Amino acid sequence: MFKRYARAEAPVAPSIETPTAQELEAKSRRDNRKAAPTKEESDNKLRERKRQDKLLDVRMDLHKKLLETLNLTVLDKATEQDLRREISIISAEGLREMGVVLNSAETDALNQELYDEVTGLGPLEPLLKDDSINDILVNSAEQIFVERAGKLELTSVRFRDEKHLLRVIDKIVSAVGRRVDESNPYVDARLADGSRFNAMVPPCAVDGSLVSIRKFKKDKLNIDELIEFGAFNEDMATYLQAAVATRLNIIVSGGTGSGKTTTLNALSGFIDDHERIVTIEDTAELQLQQVHVGRMESRPPNVEGKGEVTQRDLLRNALRMRPDRIIVGETRGDEVIDMLQAMNTGHDGSMTTIHANSARDSVARLENMIAMTGVEMPLKATRAQISSAVNLIVQVSRLQDGSRRMVSITELTGMEGEIISMQEIFKFERTGLGEDGKIIGHFTSTGLRSTFSERFAQWGYDLPASIYSQTRQSA
Ligand SMILES: Nc1ncnc2c1ncn2[C@@H]1O[C@H](COP(=O)(O)OP(=O)(O)O)[C@@H](O)[C@H]1O
Ligand SMILES: [Mg+2]
Repeated sequence: MFKRYARAEAPVAPSIETPTAQELEAKSRRDNRKAAPTKEESDNKLRERKRQDKLLDVRMDLHKKLLETLNLTVLDKATEQDLRREISIISAEGLREMGVVLNSAETDALNQELYDEVTGLGPLEPLLKDDSINDILVNSAEQIFVERAGKLELTSVRFRDEKHLLRVIDKIVSAVGRRVDESNPYVDARLADGSRFNAMVPPCAVDGSLVSIRKFKKDKLNIDELIEFGAFNEDMATYLQAAVATRLNIIVSGGTGSGKTTTLNALSGFIDDHERIVTIEDTAELQLQQVHVGRMESRPPNVEGKGEVTQRDLLRNALRMRPDRIIVGETRGDEVIDMLQAMNTGHDGSMTTIHANSARDSVARLENMIAMTGVEMPLKATRAQISSAVNLIVQVSRLQDGSRRMVSITELTGMEGEIISMQEIFKFERTGLGEDGKIIGHFTSTGLRSTFSERFAQWGYDLPASIYSQTRQSA
């Protein structure tokens, strides 16, 4: 358990949370990596696949029969129990007619699938319910991948055909008041449960409709769990606690799915409870634990191209809402100007994420974004603004073995001529590759003392010098 640094004058009681059963399970699944399949296993797979095909046919026939028999107008009003009973009666009858015999477990599974088909998202439903799955990626009716613990897996789940897939897509998007068809071939939406949904249908999608679902995690990983999973070590956590509590402006940088939002969310846990925080996101994902939180979400234009509210609009408005801190989920466009300005003018302690591959790269991304807004500013002035606004860049990365780690913590220390000077304080040092494909390495401090150590001390975070000079927890 990460023991929080007890601040000098007003020690804060650490809020200690244990990992959920689900996270532990996900971890143990990750640890028990599977060996290559034997011949017997692949035979079984083939048999299983054939059986799945057969069951898929049976299910489709039954589904058709259900739609014919069930009174769809009362579907919304029927209780779950009634509907399940009705489905089991109709399916039993159907199975008898088709001469198909199933054992009771198979019957239960079939009835559940039929229920999902009628009320929910059909074949996708079990994947949506499986908490160990982060992403669902449909490449075509026959090929559905999921991401579990950082690794992509092909599933045996399939749609009967493109029409079936389209019907499910249609059901999802019409439920959130959107449409998708040939003239409007893609849609990006947030589902009722907070999951992010994207679909692209033919002809733009060449081999059949493409669907990507990024599932909403109800429980975001906290600092303790991230330490336990080896995302960073305790020294880094202590340092980050001081950085957040003393209101440094922080950018979390990383690639897609590298854990930026998770890290940002966990870092926000170090913010004092009586500060007022305003969050701005394209898709509301952050779950801050503080009391004073105002959450805002941008909005795309409607079908007539009207009504758009951008992150920049929200950010400008946020400045009038008396925030102590502003958190922007991801800076990717012209809101960068207002973000840097806010960081430079009293809203210190603000945080955001950025899509970049290193600390240097994320500064370059910021420069690019500023240039794209059309604001005419010499490069040196741009850099000066960045270097005075941003104090810290935390780089996260999803490594080849699927693990997500904080690979670097870098401070921006000012300007040297035209160049922004930086110093790395902590990093992940890779030392090799295990036989199981796991990356071997450890977190280490670079030996450089933080330029903010004075500031930390003044605020009551007089961190021991040892955290800047030791290699402790290996990973
Ligand atoms: N250190 C970690 N260990 C295990 N899973 C993680 C870790 N960090 C993030 N995740 C998981 O990875 C997925 C993607 O993380 P997210 O923060 O949304 O990435 P990004 O914002 O960079 O796209 C989420 O499901 C999240 O729970
Ligand atoms: Mg994110």
